[in-house]
Amino acid sequence: MEKLALLGGKPLNPQVPVWPVRDERDEQAVVEVIRSGVYGGFPEPAPHAAQFAADFCAMHDVAYGIACVNGTVTLVTALMAAGVGWGDEVLVPAITFAATAWAPLSLGAVPIICDIDPETFCISPAAIEAAITERTRAIIPVHLGGTVVDLDAILAIAEKHDLIVIEDAAHAHAGQWRGKGVGSWGHFGSFSMQLTKTLTSGEGGLLTTNDPAYAEACHSIIDCGRPKDAAKQVYRLGANYRITEMQAALLEVALTRLLDQSATRNRNMNYLDERLNAVVGIKPQKVDARVTRRPSYLHLSQFDPAAFGGINSRQFTAALTAEGIPCGVGNPPMHRYDLFQLTEENSFTYRHFKDRLDFASMSFPVAERVAQTTIWTAHQFFLGDTDLVDVFVEGVEKVRANADELRTFTAQPDTQLAHLRT
Ligand SMILES: Cc1ncc(COP(=O)(O)O)c(C=O)c1O
Repeated sequence: MEKLALLGGKPLNPQVPVWPVRDERDEQAVVEVIRSGVYGGFPEPAPHAAQFAADFCAMHDVAYGIACVNGTVTLVTALMAAGVGWGDEVLVPAITFAATAWAPLSLGAVPIICDIDPETFCISPAAIEAAITERTRAIIPVHLGGTVVDLDAILAIAEKHDLIVIEDAAHAHAGQWRGKGVGSWGHFGSFSMQLTKTLTSGEGGLLTTNDPAYAEACHSIIDCGRPKDAAKQVYRLGANYRITEMQAALLEVALTRLLDQSATRNRNMNYLDERLNAVVGIKPQKVDARVTRRPSYLHLSQFDPAAFGGINSRQFTAALTAEGIPCGVGNPPMHRYDLFQLTEENSFTYRHFKDRLDFASMSFPVAERVAQTTIWTAHQFFLGDTDLVDVFVEGVEKVRANADELRTFTAQPDTQLAHLRT
């Protein structure tokens, strides 16, 4: 077997498609907004924001969509609309991006971290059940990477305990559970259109709901609290979270490509799953049989260090990255973030939540293991031909063959997440 590129060998160098995909239609869309002079505005005139929200909702089988600046304020807005605030508890998964927990924190609510399922890597319904107290108000399950969380189980728990469900679908554009779009199942769905996402305008977000009262509240919250219906004249607490027309115009064009791109990525991700299932010591994230259209933001695969000469995930992903495969180690378990460290005496969390959060006993063994042994591969890799998938498997075998030398390599913690950084 050839030497690894990281250790001086020749890289496999697959031709990874560029992201974002764009052409003259995107340029034209932005030019037209510039020529119109209507760069923003809400609710009128903002034709692109309204059209994009309508098109996105039609694709995701949901009634109302509120376009926003990003996929963090969508979570905050959903919590605000549901009346979640100071002292309330919100259940979040141990593996996600920081925003899932920062959103409740920013409202003074307490994020309660729950461990994940060892196969899907999404929040565990059993851990949710165990974490519910009389202060629990909401659950923010995340459709992580390339799958959908067990919505049936979570919605049943939520109904039993009268909890709000906000689907964090930042990774899950075009995903479907039992034939219906993600973001249409919970009380709210929250999408991000930040640069690395599968639908992007650089930054951007969309909040979905089927409830007209929630839609009206969200509309108002993101528009500085102005009433949606001027006749009602009720101002609420809100802020300017409005999207610009340039972002919305780009998103309208990008949305016309989403289903085709999603089909290509799904074909390749499913093929990679098949191939990895035949490789010793590495297995793909489990995709539930009820997922009828797979979200395809990231492909996650977990390896057994013992089958790869005891290397760690930083060494593994550094080696694959040097071969030209865009991957990284992903996000650490939530309780390892600085804000949840007891030693951070000046941190916001410690100062305000020390009586409510049991920092010292936070323990999430499944998330810990998954975080240390999982390779997160970026979606653009799956936009090419199936040959790329074969290159991935070749890269894995190259790593195994060179594991003894790779084990001595010191991987920089910071250089590997560039493809995934949000
Ligand atoms: C799971 C998850 N939730 C929320 C967000 C926040 O989205 P944004 O970066 O658009 O604020 C992200 C962004 O990466 C994410 O991965």
